[in-house]
Amino acid sequence: MRRNSYNKINIEYSPAGKFEETRCEKIHNVIFENSKEASVTVANEIAELIKTKQAKKLPCVLGLATGSSPIKVYEELVRLHQEEGLSFENVTTFNLDEYYPMDPEDIQSYYHFMQEHLFKHVDMVPENINIPDGAVSGENLYQYCIDYELKIKELGGLDFLLLGIGRTGHIGFNEPGSHLNSSTRSITLDYMTRSDAAPAFLGIDNVPRKALTMGIGTIRKAKRIVLLAWGLNKAGIIQKTIEGKITEQVPATYLQGKENTTFILDQEASSELTRIKTPWLVTSCIWTEGLQKKAIVWLSELLQKSILKLTDKDYNDHGMSSLLAEKGTAYELNIKIFNSLQYTISGWPGGKPDADDSHRPERATPTKKRVVIFSPHPDDDVISMGGTFDRLVEQGHDVHIAYQTSGNIAVSDDEALKFAEVSKDMFAQSDLIDTIINDINTKKPNQIDSLETRKLKGVIRRGESRAATRYLGLPDSNVHFLDLPFYETGKVKKDKLSTKDIKIVSAFIDKIQPHQIYAAGDLADPHGTHKVCLDAIFEALKKLKAKPYMKDCWVWLYRGAWHEWETSEIDMAVPMSPDQVLKKRHAIFFHQSQKDGVMFQGDDSREFWVRVEDRNRLTAKKYNDLGLADYAAIEAFKRYYF
Ligand code: F6R
Repeated sequence: MRRNSYNKINIEYSPAGKFEETRCEKIHNVIFENSKEASVTVANEIAELIKTKQAKKLPCVLGLATGSSPIKVYEELVRLHQEEGLSFENVTTFNLDEYYPMDPEDIQSYYHFMQEHLFKHVDMVPENINIPDGAVSGENLYQYCIDYELKIKELGGLDFLLLGIGRTGHIGFNEPGSHLNSSTRSITLDYMTRSDAAPAFLGIDNVPRKALTMGIGTIRKAKRIVLLAWGLNKAGIIQKTIEGKITEQVPATYLQGKENTTFILDQEASSELTRIKTPWLVTSCIWTEGLQKKAIVWLSELLQKSILKLTDKDYNDHGMSSLLAEKGTAYELNIKIFNSLQYTISGWPGGKPDADDSHRPERATPTKKRVVIFSPHPDDDVISMGGTFDRLVEQGHDVHIAYQTSGNIAVSDDEALKFAEVSKDMFAQSDLIDTIINDINTKKPNQIDSLETRKLKGVIRRGESRAATRYLGLPDSNVHFLDLPFYETGKVKKDKLSTKDIKIVSAFIDKIQPHQIYAAGDLADPHGTHKVCLDAIFEALKKLKAKPYMKDCWVWLYRGAWHEWETSEIDMAVPMSPDQVLKKRHAIFFHQSQKDGVMFQGDDSREFWVRVEDRNRLTAKKYNDLGLADYAAIEAFKRYYF
């Protein structure tokens, strides 16, 4: 089997462990520090292949995927073409799939995606580009799929196939139930796949129900397969695919035993693999403080026993005997980790004045802190940290909220029309209002909003945000709308982070000179708005690091609506009383445009306040199950050191 020589990230294993750590794994995989570094490596492999074939005057046949995963690989290939002269003249491509029916000219088509991300920037011969045609008629479909398959075969098969993976375990669009020997065909998309695609189509109802896809049999014939997976959202399906049994319920497991296959993962996507999640089960570990905490919390959860009740035998029976051998008895370890969890709990997120702060998450001084809460969209502040926000204001800190984006795209046309019509009823004659009403009423499916309509949608979100922040006692002068330019495309696809965005964020931090910054450390979707907003803050922090006030600035990361920190990762746990839970709920209610069937709901159809209450309740329960106090709810933060 060809093994790839990609470098791995350093993880906390002793050298002896490296041979045994992958014993649960049935597919070769490489974990990279981040998706950017990983994508550059994959692009280099493709470029080398193209060049080797070129030198031999042979065509190079590539199978290509669309979606968010391969974007950075295409970016790097384009760079290699533009800056290093990589030519695509000998390349023939076959895309894996296309929605059906789908007009290739439609901005949601994979045809359009490929043009935008790769083909229009390189010197491909147009006749060498093959993408399943979403416009082929129903009666010709069967023959069309046979011909697509035959064409790949005639060219000698795929030399290299780039794959992504869906959360259903699909590769291409081979959904659960697909047969091992399936070939190119039409398929019905799973609900989860459609809901993942919903943001790009501005709502699940607009997502096609069918697609054309290469089959599993076609995919398995490729001479080299590289599958990319980024972000926490993929962690569960990656674990099942790499460590689980081969099953038609997870079609990607058909890649087990297929030679020359490598999965390329970032840290988040690999986080459920046994060697990452519970390395002590498969290898010898270097028992850092962090790993001790992770293991003991895991053991307590697994055995459903509070930490202080764990015994030496429990440790020994669950791969943790080396921890006892190196670091002390269960009794001593239990107390140490129990205390460290206890110290994370504080009802004083801005620090407790005049208190001994040696075991508290925040400093006692200065007693009144300048605090900046960055909120990627105009509601993440109250959704993700409404309780903490409330305490910071109540405890007298100078709290500033900075909404990083306008959030205009997430306001539905119906909602905007409602506001426009109310304004029209009030101020009988207004050309602007008439224009907006007309724009909305004559808008075609998937058409971008006019600038005026976008403005109205942004203003609606500003109004909702002010109502919520006023309710939590914040003066309007402390509410800031940064309207970062990367977001303002009017489309789901945003621009890349630019120096303009970073300048706005750093100028803001520089103006306030905060002692505390709260930011959405949401890495679930590495291509989403939250990640870009976080990158803007990280870049700004790098720029400002040398300023004297920055050495007093601590950064706390909260998680967005979708995930929570692992209990062992939490550095500050802010408990909430039942009344505070209700107050937070009311603050979220002010964001009315985001209620009921919001556009970016994902596959969880519950409203944000329900989800977040469940999550905060669950965090509190987890603490309680570990043997700590029983709170109604907890908001969790992880400290970021820069
Ligand atoms: C698309 C394709 C799909 C995607 C998968 C993951 O051509 O073949 O299998 O790779 O749905 O999509 P992203 O990368 O958007 O998470």
